[in-house]
Amino acid sequence: MNVHVPVLLEEATDLLTGNRGKVYLDCTLGGGGHARRILEKVPDSYLIGIDLDEDVIEVAVGNLKEFEGRFSVYKANFRDLDLVLREEGIEKVDGILFDLGVSMFQIKSERGFSFQRDSPLDMRMDKDQKLTAYDVVNRYPEGELERILREYGEERLSGRIARAIVRRREKKPIETTGELVDVVLSVYPERLKHGRIHPATRVFQAIRIEVNRELENLKTALEKTPELLNPGGRIVVISFHSLEDRIVKRFLKERADVFKILTKKPITPSDEEIRVNPASRSAKLRAGERI
Ligand SMILES: C[S@@+](CC[C@H](N)C(=O)[O-])C[C@H]1O[C@@H](n2cnc3c(N)ncnc32)[C@H](O)[C@@H]1O
Repeated sequence: MNVHVPVLLEEATDLLTGNRGKVYLDCTLGGGGHARRILEKVPDSYLIGIDLDEDVIEVAVGNLKEFEGRFSVYKANFRDLDLVLREEGIEKVDGILFDLGVSMFQIKSERGFSFQRDSPLDMRMDKDQKLTAYDVVNRYPEGELERILREYGEERLSGRIARAIVRRREKKPIETTGELVDVVLSVYPERLKHGRIHPATRVFQAIRIEVNRELENLKTALEKTPELLNPGGRIVVISFHSLEDRIVKRFLKERADVFKILTKKPITPSDEEIRVNPASRSAKLRAGERI
């Protein structure tokens, strides 16, 4: 399994632990890269980690072995972060981290997150969930598909692609990522096929966001954070596309009554980080401190 290189590792963990708190909540544990750094940086701290993917939790637990006794992990959706803390018997924490999106483990898995790998159309982070990418692609009405591609993918050809998907599935269900890529390419004009990003990038992003309800989960979770942070406690969010960043930016602005903004402009990876880890290129970090 490929490793996941944590993005903006020092920047995120410096900001999160700058208050020298004791208890931290990592809402997107992944391979445990950020979690590990938090536990290293604050020697007497305790960390609660959440992820909805049981496979990555296993990786994280292995990665955090030497911190046995200083962390606990939950397979849960971060929109239920309040319930996780209640179960843990903790009322408030000193820092909450979100490092959104999928990890390299998931991209490299057989779960259909990547258009570069032919796999069944799945895209669920939570394997217990019912809705898959197959359902979205084969069962959603054309208008709904168009909206998802336009809103979540910011795809200019949303109408054409939605129509092509419906036409293709009338003949035979679209079962694999390869078949979906094929449909996208069939309507992409030649001159746009060789842009900076692959034509299927936005379509895959949009369907993934829909399958995992990514924007709704983020909004719900953010709204719960003020109640769960001690005064001086910090929230750090790393996002990877403009829709998520907009939600975070707006949230911190709207809740100026409870958060002091620590990042006037979002923090982005250095050229060096992007060179070493190209997957970090679209990352934006925003942080706030509970007043
Ligand atoms: C970018 S990775 C995090 C990587 C991690 N910071 C590290 O250093 O290894 C994002 C993780 O968040 C998880 N995730 C995404 N949405 C989630 C949600 N709503 N609830 C819980 N976990 C979620 C994914 O399963 C994935 O493992």
